[in-house]
Amino acid sequence: MAEEKKPDAAPPKPPGPPAPPPPKNPGFVTAIVDGKEVVVKPGTTVIEAAKAVGIDIPYYCYHKRLSIAANCRMCLVEMSNAPGGKLMPACQMPVAEGVTVKTDTPRVKDQQRATLEFLLLNHPVDCSICDQAGECKLQDYYMAYDRQPSRLDVPKVMKGKRVELGPTVTLDQERCILCTRCVRFMREVAENPQLGVAQRGNESFITTFPGQPLDDKYAGNVVDICPVGALTSTDFRFRGRVWFMSSARSVCTGCARGCNTFLDYLNDVTYRYRPRENDAVNEEWMCDDGRTSYKYLNAGRVLVAREGRGANAQPLPRKVAPRRAAEVLLPHVAAGSLAVLLSPVASLEDLLVACKVAKEGLKVGEVYAGGRADGWQDDFLKRADENPNRKGLELAAAAYGLAVRPFADLVAAAGAGKVKGLWAVGTEVPDAKAAEKLGALEIVAQSYGDAALAQHAAVLLPASPHSEMDGTFVNFEGRAQRFEMAYFPKGESRPHWALAAELGAALGLPLAFASGREVFAALGPQLGSALGDFAWDSLPSTGSRLGIVPLAAGTVDGRLPGNRDRVPSETTEDYRRAMSRTS
Ligand code: SF4
Ligand code: SF4
Ligand code: FES
Repeated sequence: MAEEKKPDAAPPKPPGPPAPPPPKNPGFVTAIVDGKEVVVKPGTTVIEAAKAVGIDIPYYCYHKRLSIAANCRMCLVEMSNAPGGKLMPACQMPVAEGVTVKTDTPRVKDQQRATLEFLLLNHPVDCSICDQAGECKLQDYYMAYDRQPSRLDVPKVMKGKRVELGPTVTLDQERCILCTRCVRFMREVAENPQLGVAQRGNESFITTFPGQPLDDKYAGNVVDICPVGALTSTDFRFRGRVWFMSSARSVCTGCARGCNTFLDYLNDVTYRYRPRENDAVNEEWMCDDGRTSYKYLNAGRVLVAREGRGANAQPLPRKVAPRRAAEVLLPHVAAGSLAVLLSPVASLEDLLVACKVAKEGLKVGEVYAGGRADGWQDDFLKRADENPNRKGLELAAAAYGLAVRPFADLVAAAGAGKVKGLWAVGTEVPDAKAAEKLGALEIVAQSYGDAALAQHAAVLLPASPHSEMDGTFVNFEGRAQRFEMAYFPKGESRPHWALAAELGAALGLPLAFASGREVFAALGPQLGSALGDFAWDSLPSTGSRLGIVPLAAGTVDGRLPGNRDRVPSETTEDYRRAMSRTS
C-alpha cells in the first residue's frame, strides 16, 4: 500500500530585522547625525533632532505646529535603517535608537539640487518685484543648495496671478510649490477648511471652494507660513521691501490677549505686525483684526500740544503745557469736582505714574476706566475686551488705593453736575455718543489721535503710543509682557508717563523719569507681588534683536548714511535727546 504523502514542511522563516539595541540613555533615543551624538525624546523627528545639535535640514512643507505631509521632498537624508538604502524624509521619520543619519553626502546634495530644479520648473522668477523677496525659502535654498542655471527649454505652465482669495489674502498661483501648509493650517488650526488643492500634476493650484472667499478671522496666518511668495497680505503688498525694515519685539494692542508680535517699521512708520512665538500666549498666530490694528500708530496723530477748542484752538509750547494743564485742573481739585479717566490702552508704566498723580496731586479716591468698546470673542485667541491692559489699569489703581469705576458712571456723574473737570490719560472710550456728553466739562486730555474726547479738550497733550516707548502690558490672565520702542516719539509727543510726570511736577510732586525702566524701578514695587516673578528686563537686549535688521550703513538702499532706522536703546545719546527734547 502506497505511503500517504505528508504535506510539505513549512519553509524556514527568513531572519527578521535585528533586535533594536538597548537604549544608550534609558527613556531617550540616542542617534548620530553627521557624526554628532543626539539624545532626544522618543518620537522626535530627524529634522528636529538635527536642529537640536545645530544642523539645518532644508524643508518647505514641514511645520512643527501642523500635521506632516512629506510632499515637498526637500528634506531627504540618508539613514542607516532605511529599507534598500532609500533616502528618507527627515520631517516624517522619527529618530530610532542607534541610527546614523547623514545630511550632507553627495547623494543628499544631488537630490536637494534636483528637488529645487523641479520646484523651480514652473516658478516665475520674478524675485525683483516679488513681495516675499528677503523672506523667501525658495530664494534662500536656491542660493544655499542649488545655484544652477535653468535647463528648461519649454514654456512654463502659467497659472492665476493676483487672485484675491478673500479680504486679507491675495494669491499668486504661479509661485505656489504646493506644500499644502496653508491647507493644513485652515483645517487644523483655524478649524475652517476654506482652502484646498484643485486639479492634478503641474496643473494643480491652491484655491477656495467656488464662490466662497477665504474670510476666516485667522486667514492672515497663511501668509506667514507660506514659504514662498504665493500667499501675500493684501494690506502689506508692495508697500515696502522687507530688507529695508527694522523690527521691534512688541505686543498686539487689539485685545486683552496681547499676542506677541514683531512690529516692522521703516522711517518711523509702522508697516505691519507679524506674530512672534510665545507658546503660553499665542503660539505663533494672530487674528486678522489684530494684524491691521497698527494703523492708529501712523495716521491721525496729535503731534503738538494745543489749548482751546475748534476754531479757537492754539498751539501750546510744550514747556508751558503742563503748567496750563495744572491751572485748568486745580480749581476742580479745590471744588471736589474733578474726575480722572484712565485708558486701558495705555501701558502699565503710564498708568502707574497717572495713578500716583491722581492720588497725590489731584487728590481723587477713584478713577474711571475708559477704553475701546467690546468686540468679538472666540475660544482660540481673540478676547471681547479690545484693550491690551485692563488688568494693568486695575493693578495700578489698586497699588494707589484707587477704586476703578466704569465709564458709564462718569457720564452719569457729569450729567448730574458732580463732575466738572476731567483729566483723561488716553481718550479711547467705549461709547463715543456718551462721550459727547462730556463735552461740557473742562478737559485736559493726553491723546495719540484726534478722538472725540480730544476735540473737547481745553488743553490737549500729544501722547506717544507703544511703538514709541518701552513698556509693559498685563494681559487678561495677569501675564505681564514687555514691548520695546521701535522708533523715537513723533513730533512733540511723549509717552503718557512722561506727560503725567510733567503734570505732577507742575502740581508740586517731585516726579522726573528718563525712561520706562526708571518708572518701573521707582513705582513697580508699589504693585507688591501682583506680577509674580516678572522682571522688567526680561526682553533680551535690543542690541541682538531677532527678525529683520537694517542693512549696514551705506547707500545701497538709496537713503543717505545717518538717515537709516536706528534701534533705540536707552543707553544712547539719541534716546536721551529724544526723551528730553520736549521737557
Ligand atoms: S500657497 Fe504657499 S503655503 Fe499654500 S501650498 Fe502654495 S506654497 Fe504652500
Ligand atoms: S487675538 Fe487679540 S491680541 Fe491677538 S492678534 Fe487678535 S486682536 Fe491682537
Ligand atoms: S519637509 Fe520633508 S518632505 Fe517636505
